[in-house]
Amino acid sequence: MSISLDYTNMMTDAVGTEYGVSDEEITGFIAQTKGIHQHIQERRDSGELPFFDLPHNLAAIDEILTLAKEIQADFDDLIVLGIGGSALGTTAMFKALCYGHNFQSKEQRGGLPRLFVLDNVDPDGFATHLALCDPAQTCFLVISKSGTTVETTSQFLVARQWVEESVGGVFCDHFVLITDPENGVLRELADREGYRSCAIPAGVGGRFTAFTPVCLLPLACVGVDISRLLKGAADFSRFVCHGDLETNPAYLNAVLQYLAYQKGLRTSVLMPYSDRLKDIADWYRQLWAESLGKKFSTDGAILHVGPTPVSALGTTDQHSQVQLYMEGPFDKVVTFIAVGEFDQDLKLPDYEASPEMFYLAGHTMGELIRVEQLATAAALVRNQRSNCTIHIPMVTPETVGALIYLFEVQTLFAGYLFDVNPLDQPGVEEGKLFTYALMGRQGFETKAEEYASIKAHLRSRILSCK
Ligand code: PA5
Repeated sequence: MSISLDYTNMMTDAVGTEYGVSDEEITGFIAQTKGIHQHIQERRDSGELPFFDLPHNLAAIDEILTLAKEIQADFDDLIVLGIGGSALGTTAMFKALCYGHNFQSKEQRGGLPRLFVLDNVDPDGFATHLALCDPAQTCFLVISKSGTTVETTSQFLVARQWVEESVGGVFCDHFVLITDPENGVLRELADREGYRSCAIPAGVGGRFTAFTPVCLLPLACVGVDISRLLKGAADFSRFVCHGDLETNPAYLNAVLQYLAYQKGLRTSVLMPYSDRLKDIADWYRQLWAESLGKKFSTDGAILHVGPTPVSALGTTDQHSQVQLYMEGPFDKVVTFIAVGEFDQDLKLPDYEASPEMFYLAGHTMGELIRVEQLATAAALVRNQRSNCTIHIPMVTPETVGALIYLFEVQTLFAGYLFDVNPLDQPGVEEGKLFTYALMGRQGFETKAEEYASIKAHLRSRILSCK
């Protein structure tokens, strides 16, 4: 497995001195990197950053595989109920490693269940998915670290009733609760009502749960070799768990992104050239946004900092977004993910009737998508637009595990550079509290008054088109 970070097009000699990064700027971070790395090591040693060691924890796999076998034997459909970090990793890795799985017949799937990840409370979306499944043949993974997330709670309530109406008293067998090992409503329910459950290791926050049962259980159920996924991350750790900036792609990319941000390139686009990796960009978008978008520095000063992550797909978004990236404001840095080889490639055949198409004959579709990525990168350079490329040889459990791990470490390191805590998300709390208040939850009466007072002080401006 050979993964590389090509940052040629981030440099001053490629895109000019205004937005490009110089060698001196990078080497200026060498000493700071050693200090940060030392601090990360100390925190790891004291158990403060358990996500780092998850890929090495092969002992956890056995329990997951046993449970996955039971689910595979008993159910046709598997539905994940969860949101944010409890959903995006599974969606990303499912698409990457089981592309087209749900479109296959049961026979083509080798009898494995279909997997749906429902991460919203849009009643249309939710009801439509339930209607695709038979309650007697459906298993739900209810995933919430806190156990209190309103979206997941309400999904669970609807699903539980739906299953109970079909199978009666044995409805508990259709649910597996994945939550905190000790605390929260879901843990309490599991203990009291006898639901099967898995623990999210203590200290691992939602968006860093890719290598926990949150993602590993659903992926194992649909046949992903989760030991290969973990091995990919574990093997890759030797490249990203050392303090030498110039040879650590996670630290180096964090520094490059940070320098780009300082130069005004505040939008960070992740653009895989692979349908299978499309949702990895969505997963990363949450990781980068929720971890780095912060009001306060680590010592409480007001910063209002954070790059805005955007996910795009090559080549599709060449015909949607790239015009803006080329000629719009100088505020973006693009990271491509390029895939060396596709599982299936398609030869572009000769078609004598049309000489205009001759140039394509004999090439392959895989070659075309690779060339288009190179062409877009070069065109961006021509327009002084900073970009870099992460190359992976193929989409496999190992490379996906490595990519996820790379981005997790990069994000943690970037937290130090931006001087924010990348492991919390205080900004999403306020909206949650108002939601509880508006849904009449006991204990949130003051919040309801606060909401009413905000509304009362606003002069309403609504343009209705009746
Ligand atoms: O990354 C995070 O911590 C969040 O995105 C959470 O995963 C999300 O808010 C869901 O929280 P919970 O797992 O507690 O339901």
